[in-house]
Amino acid sequence: MKTINVLMVCLGNICRSPTAQGVLESLVESRGLSHRVRVDSAGTSGWHIGESPDSRSQSAALTRGYDITAQRGRRVSVHDFDEFDFILAMDSDNLADLQSLRPPHFSGHLGLLMDFAKRPEYPHVPDPYHGGTAGFELVLDLIEEASAALLDHMFQPGKP
Ligand code: 4NP
Repeated sequence: MKTINVLMVCLGNICRSPTAQGVLESLVESRGLSHRVRVDSAGTSGWHIGESPDSRSQSAALTRGYDITAQRGRRVSVHDFDEFDFILAMDSDNLADLQSLRPPHFSGHLGLLMDFAKRPEYPHVPDPYHGGTAGFELVLDLIEEASAALLDHMFQPGKP
């Protein structure tokens, strides 16, 4: 069976998208889907290339059992459109940047992660970088919900 490749994208690749990678990887493992789904993350900016996730994201994630410490920042590239089936943006600015990078032949899914969650009050995962601890908890709450809904969507009964 073909592996489904998922790329989570935010601005810096040090807060939201590494969290989304860690949460989805953990959920994939707990549902016994590690052989079916591969997850990565990237940023639309090149500001934090090679850096570890923000220490606030690392600690908030660790408290809920997600170890994102080994991840390193990278910038999204046009080649990612050849490698990934789902490219999921955290907010509409990230999505607009990805849409301008999208090659015409890309036939995968490019959209917002939060489109999979039933949370009309939160169409995006808000950027926690300039705020306090509550913002990092909210990021985790929203990403946990959307990631579960994403996997439900991918592995609906009757879908190959
Ligand atoms: P992220 O958060 O996009 O969730 O990784 C940010 C990280 C860094 C900056 C902004 C947002 N920055 O301005 O450096």
